[in-house]
Amino acid sequence: MTYRAQLDRLHAAGTYRQRHPVTSAQGPEITYRGKVVVNLSSNNYLGLAHHPKVIEAAKTMLSSAGLGAGAARLICGNHEVFETLEARLATFKGTESALLFGSGYTANLGLLQALAEDGTVYCDRLNHASLIDGARLSGASLRTYPHRDNNQLNRRLRRTEGPVLVATDGVFSMDGDLAPLRELADLCTRHSATLLVDDAHGTGVLADDGSGSVHLAGLNSTQVPVQMGTLGKALGGYGAFVAGSADLIDYLVNRARSFIFTTALPPAIAAGALAALEIVMSDEGQQRREALQSNRTYLANGLKALGWNVPDCNTPILPLLVGDTTQAAALSERLLESGILAAAVRPPTVPEGTSRLRVTVMCDHTHAHLDKALAAIDKPPRPSGG
Ligand SMILES: Cc1ncc(COP(=O)(O)O)c(C=O)c1O
Repeated sequence: MTYRAQLDRLHAAGTYRQRHPVTSAQGPEITYRGKVVVNLSSNNYLGLAHHPKVIEAAKTMLSSAGLGAGAARLICGNHEVFETLEARLATFKGTESALLFGSGYTANLGLLQALAEDGTVYCDRLNHASLIDGARLSGASLRTYPHRDNNQLNRRLRRTEGPVLVATDGVFSMDGDLAPLRELADLCTRHSATLLVDDAHGTGVLADDGSGSVHLAGLNSTQVPVQMGTLGKALGGYGAFVAGSADLIDYLVNRARSFIFTTALPPAIAAGALAALEIVMSDEGQQRREALQSNRTYLANGLKALGWNVPDCNTPILPLLVGDTTQAAALSERLLESGILAAAVRPPTVPEGTSRLRVTVMCDHTHAHLDKALAAIDKPPRPSGG
């Protein structure tokens, strides 16, 4: 089939994707498709992407180090700021060591490829695509288990021989719910499996100190030996990291192909991330998390009052389940006309029949922003065709 014919099929299915221009910073308001709208689609939960201290730190590094790192870390691209940031990330996550990667997607590819070898990888069915892709590319046998279903996983683990890696999102990116990490950690201990938690959406946001879903669940780096986090969401920048034992990190330096065979992050990005991390770890970070939580509660209560079924977990991701792909896209377009950006998420990002608007809150949304959104969102649409 030609590219055009395949694209026509995507159009017909309502799953055609396109890029739209953004001409402002990622604030609570954003200029999107030429229009200033309330931004309910950003992962910049703590508003750090446009924080003056973060911008200043990146600018200063940009002036001294220039734009690019010039080479891979293992050649001559290992600017000292990377190691400073890694040491702070390890402290933040309560691990011996940490290692930066170019993005969350490449971190997961490298992790799975390096750690899974020829064993078995178990993935929650709603894990982020990068974990699934990493498992597929690793050469290990990939098995999925029903979402958050530890009983099923337990049954399957009993029948599995050889090395096992269990990989899960800490916060599920499209549903905003939490993985049952305590039970997963127990299961992994019982079955001698390694637990990998991708905390892309918990890092900076969850637990009193913002360190994420592992700490929120009362677990430590022995129970969860492999923790991944991103710098591109609550930390407001770009890139990702793995935190764990010194041996794990040393092993990844030597084995993770997506670490070895790629140019290092721009040093200015690392300097910006370091400034963002210092804010996350400070009283200001605590205040930003409290404001985020309060906005989450405000929006969730408003949505519930309208009749939306919103999960009761304190993450900034609020899925508005519509079901039908075309209806979800139409709702998103209607909201945009009313000045609200709430992107529709469709298959294959989510399973068939579960298209939704993925609404996210930020700490610097005002009640006026959220009230405007609630007025535009209105009641859930009736299912089409019946
Ligand atoms: C759970 C999860 N893991 C990994 C990633 C990939 O991170 P990045 O955007 O840094 O590539 C994302 C991003 O959407 C995510 O939601």
